[in-house]
Amino acid sequence: TILIVDFGSQVTQLIARRVREAGVYSEIAPFNTAEEAFHRLKPMGIILSGSPAGVPEEGSPRAPEVIFESGLPILGICYGQQVMNHQLGGTVETGIDGEFGRAFLTVTKPCALFEGLWEVDDKHQVWMSHGDKVTNFAPGFEIVATSEGAPFAVIADESRKYYGTQFHPEVVHTPDGGKLIANFIHHVCGCAGDWTMAEYKAAKIADIREQVGDGKVICGLSGGVDSSVAAILIHEAIGDQLMCVFVDHGLLRLNEREQVETLFRDHYNIPLVVVDAEERFMAGLDGVSDPEKKRKFIGGEFIEVFDEEAARIGGADFLAQGTLYPDVIESVSFTGGPSVTIKSHHNVGGLPERMNMQLVEPLRELFKDEVRDLGRELGLNDQFVGRHPFPGPGLAIRIPGEVTKERCDILRKADAIYLEEIRNAGLYDAIWQAFAVLLPVKTVGVMGDSRTYDNVCGLRAVTSTDGMTADVYPFDASFLTRVSTRIVNEVKGINRVVYDYTSKPPGTIEWE
Ligand code: XMP
Repeated sequence: TILIVDFGSQVTQLIARRVREAGVYSEIAPFNTAEEAFHRLKPMGIILSGSPAGVPEEGSPRAPEVIFESGLPILGICYGQQVMNHQLGGTVETGIDGEFGRAFLTVTKPCALFEGLWEVDDKHQVWMSHGDKVTNFAPGFEIVATSEGAPFAVIADESRKYYGTQFHPEVVHTPDGGKLIANFIHHVCGCAGDWTMAEYKAAKIADIREQVGDGKVICGLSGGVDSSVAAILIHEAIGDQLMCVFVDHGLLRLNEREQVETLFRDHYNIPLVVVDAEERFMAGLDGVSDPEKKRKFIGGEFIEVFDEEAARIGGADFLAQGTLYPDVIESVSFTGGPSVTIKSHHNVGGLPERMNMQLVEPLRELFKDEVRDLGRELGLNDQFVGRHPFPGPGLAIRIPGEVTKERCDILRKADAIYLEEIRNAGLYDAIWQAFAVLLPVKTVGVMGDSRTYDNVCGLRAVTSTDGMTADVYPFDASFLTRVSTRIVNEVKGINRVVYDYTSKPPGTIEWE
């Protein structure tokens, strides 16, 4: 086990992720409870995170002294490097000009962190984000790498196995960062690296049991990977103390509701209530064409329906959600500062307070690909765990203008053909998200000898790693021709197909 002492950096979870990738279990403990965690976990090494605070500031956080008395290896990152240096007798000062963003460092001495990776005199790209810096290092330390803005970019005391990096090895902008962390964990701490998702699952099941006791849990399913994995995991932990609710708002893809019913009821034998709320949603969407109004209505109505259903089944003590780590940090950018609302996202936020329930969020520290691994561990097949993301407001935000049941039915058919062709061509897993949109535009066409005057269907497919930025997927012309022909021939109501060639930014992935 590795103990990660958190000083409040926005990227502490990324450290945990890198440790998991190295096949080692870790736990994050806030600095003020880290001592207790240290005694409980009996770790083989310790990593100190970054922080928005500065070591020279009054009242800024410190690491518990016990970790320095323990004789265990320590890796301090950014603030972690500075605070370690400070507590061991060095000095840290507020930098005149901090370093932010990409920087290059030069290796000056070999060290265990660099083993098999970096040689003396090599230059490597790293990601810096700091205002303060170490100006005088503590006894025993020496410099092993420098950068222009941080002469002590990496310091080491190999006899005590203490290492400090001024840069952030945990972020992807430090290309070798994951390997540096793995070196620390495997070579310096001596951890084996054989920890797996199966053990993660077992640990989470124990956590859920402890949190929930004999309480009742309700979980809203969306048909997506996250809520499904959360529900199946919770069901493994507490069995039928869990009740799942699936709201069919009429904005789902073709056969989606049936797939959810089969999976949960038949395959996993999980108690499931399906609410047929199509009419209610369609009535509420009548005459609404503004994207934000659609989103707000759907989000609000979803909560209403869910709330009513929860009351009908006698209430619950806990609300389960498939919140992922990126959802937690979504509105906060890496360099800090609030971000503006581009779209109001729909989830079941607001429910817990209203219904006076506590949250159960077993996926809160995971990233999407890790959730997929966990899903496989729980017996979900590759096709299910590899499903493209689908937005809460569903087809409503893929039908610019007014949403009607008729338009949803047309879109469902076109979308199903498009995805079928993508799967047949073996392209599904290479694409982050692919879907059809139905435009509020009619154009003239000719079929047989007659004139047609029908809707335009747009096709979208993007690649992305996190949905924050996206590139257009470059299909072959022959593929697009095939899809276009099938849609126009097979879907009544569509007589023209166009391909959306906009990346994000400037476009968003969804059309509304
Ligand atoms: P945009 O359109 O903002 O989408 O580029 C980025 C990712 O978020 C998904 N998305 C949503 N997911 N509720 C969700 O659960 C929403 O309201 C919502 N809006 C967009 C979108 O499908 C893409 O994956």
